[in-house]
Formats: sequence, structure tokens, C-alpha cells
Amino acid sequence: MTDYSPTPADRFSFGLWTVGFRGGDPFGDPTRPTLDPVRTVHKLAELGAWGVTFHDDDLIPFGAPEGQRQEAVTRFRQAVETAGLTVPMVTTNLFGHPVFKDGALTANDRDIRRFALRKVLRNVELAAELGASTFVAWGGREGSESEAAIDTYNALERYREGIDLICEFIRDRGYELRLALEPKPNEPRGDMLLPTVGHVLAFVERLEHPEMVGVNPEVGHEQMAGLNYVHGIAQALWAGKLFHLDLNGQRGAKFDQDLRFGAGDLKNAFFTVDLLERSGYEGPRHFDFKPSRTEDETGVWTAAQGCMRNYLILRDRVAAFRADPRVRAALEAARVTELAEPTLGPGEKPEELLVERTGFDPEEAGGRAMHYERLDQLALEHLMGVH
Ligand code: GCO
Ligand code: MN
Ligand code: MN
Repeated sequence: MTDYSPTPADRFSFGLWTVGFRGGDPFGDPTRPTLDPVRTVHKLAELGAWGVTFHDDDLIPFGAPEGQRQEAVTRFRQAVETAGLTVPMVTTNLFGHPVFKDGALTANDRDIRRFALRKVLRNVELAAELGASTFVAWGGREGSESEAAIDTYNALERYREGIDLICEFIRDRGYELRLALEPKPNEPRGDMLLPTVGHVLAFVERLEHPEMVGVNPEVGHEQMAGLNYVHGIAQALWAGKLFHLDLNGQRGAKFDQDLRFGAGDLKNAFFTVDLLERSGYEGPRHFDFKPSRTEDETGVWTAAQGCMRNYLILRDRVAAFRADPRVRAALEAARVTELAEPTLGPGEKPEELLVERTGFDPEEAGGRAMHYERLDQLALEHLMGVH
């Protein structure tokens, strides 16, 4: 590939709310008009994307009567079919309406928890109807600004109850849907429940059907917590829980920037693509970004194209990095490959470690160089395109 034009085989998907972001922020009004979902679908297909995702409210205005709901869904489904796109994932807006100001599945107000679950279950039905295989749950408002206002133990109990109930509904209906919980440390709440990939992985193990629930890690959200996204998705892969992911860009621990993929921490993006391409991850490459409010609609599509182009360019760069004989030698010299070897020999017992028989000398080993500087420099040079 030389022109970096995406095709459906690349499995790139976008949320309606991403390119549809109108540029409003806490300090300023929207700068762009509403984008018709049908236009988005056709435009995404034209740009070479494979899938489109949405929150219920991106498609159907909150509280719309049944007739309007059906009309919106039919129009969208027809557009998706005509354009030849897929709907790999659907998610629920449990954060926009004032009713969710104190959370949804973990709101203190029980009536609101029941309403939130009703909204989710209706959206599960829609996800199944549109053939989605993943249902993302981002707890946008599950959290607090004051420790006094939330009993965290009970909040986690209600979170567990809510997710278990959704899984039960999916099983009762016989749907082929898996859930992916999306962590985020803060914003909009001061502190959010399930703030990181690690918290989600631990939470999932307490569920009734852990096999149905995985994680949807977002680049920016891990970086907001000061964490390394590559390590986060690596642990999710190791646990067999990388059901979906949100690619975007972020620079440092600050507000959720949702930059286009590749912007922000480019080196981490390089190693993200490296890991995804080497791991056998077959899920969508989903972009959850917000085009800057400085742009008009043309800029929005330029940004969407930029996400896909950056992924494809990085895919080329990491392939060249891995194929370079100098890199192979540097990996060998750094003993990166040695980590694949189990620490104990076949049949060896922990007891046997107590007696040193190999003549190992910690002074000598402490003096062995790891040669990471050379290896990392090669990575940077491949990333900068000089090899
Ligand atoms: C954010 C989140 C959302 C979710 C989306 C899916 O920080 O705004 O990333 O964009 O991904 O709501 O549930
Ligand atoms: Mn996201
Ligand atoms: Mn985000």
C-alpha cells in the first residue's frame, strides 16, 4: 500500500457522535450545524470506512414517540445497507439528559436506575436488530464529586446488578451480543467508577457471566490517568477481554482531548498499532475522536480521513520496524525474546531455586547492559520514516 487509502478490509469504524460533534465545549457554543446520520453513513463509506456505531440518542432524539423512533431507525438502516456499511457496535447515552445528572446504573435515586436500565434494554433490542456484536457501556456519570454523596460499595453492587441484568436479558433473548465496559478516570464526574482498564478487568470477574463482558479501552482515557495505553490493551488481550477499542489522541493528563488518532502521543500510537497488528486482534479499529471546533464540515472529513491514514501509515512503519534485520538483532541483544521463556525449567520445582547451581553472579549480571537505547532509537527512526 502506498497511497494509504482505507478499504473495508481494514475494519475502520466511527461513531455518529464523533464526526457529528458540533464543537460545543464548557466555554463555548457549537460551531457547526447538525450532521444528518444518513449523510454521515454515505460519507464514511465513500472514505473507505467499514462500520458505523452510535448512541441511541445520536439517532433517535431522547423521548421521541414510537413512530418517530421507527422512522429514524428505518432511514438509518436503509442508508447503512445502501452504503454497504456494518453496525459492529451500539452504545447507550446515559449521560446527556438531566435525569442522569447523578449517574444511571448507580444513581442514588432508584427510579432513575430503573429508567436507565429500561433505556439500555430497549437499545440492546435495537443493537440486535441491526446485527451489532458488541454493546459498549460507558458509565459517563457513574461517579461523584464528593465521597459523602456516594456509598462506593453499594454503587459497585448496583453496577454489578445492572450489568448482570443486561447480560441476563441478552441470554433470555438469545442475542449474539457481548458487552464492553469503557473505563475513564474523570470527566464529566470529578471521579468516575471503573476508572481504568485494570478496574474493569477486576470488576468483570465478579459478574454472573464474566465471559460475556470485556473492556473497551480508549487511548485518551488511560493517558488521562497517567497510564500507558499499550500496556492497558496488552493486559486486556492477555485476559482475553479486548472486545472493542476507542482509538484517538491525547497529550498528557488533562481534559479528554479526543484528538484524531495519531495526534498527541505519536510514539504510543506507533506501538498501539504494532501490538494490535501482531496480537491477532480481529475486532474493529474504532475511532472515538472529536474534530476540533475550529473546523467546518470539510475539516471534519479531513480529520476522519486523518485517523485512518495515520493508522495505515503506522501499520506500514511498524511492519518495516519488525522486518528490519537491525531491529531483530537489537531485540535479541536486549533479550526481549528471552522473556517468552518460562522462568522455571520443565518439571523444575520452586524448592530447587533455593540452591544456586549455575554459578550465577549478581555482580556480573548487574553489569550487563540491556541496549534499550539502540532499540528505542531504531523504533523512533522507523517512526520518523528514515529507514
Ligand atoms: C467520552 C467517551 C464516549 C464513549 C461513548 C461510548 O469520553 O466521551 O469516550 O465517547 O466512548 O459514549 O459509550
Ligand atoms: Mn470512548
Ligand atoms: Mn474520550
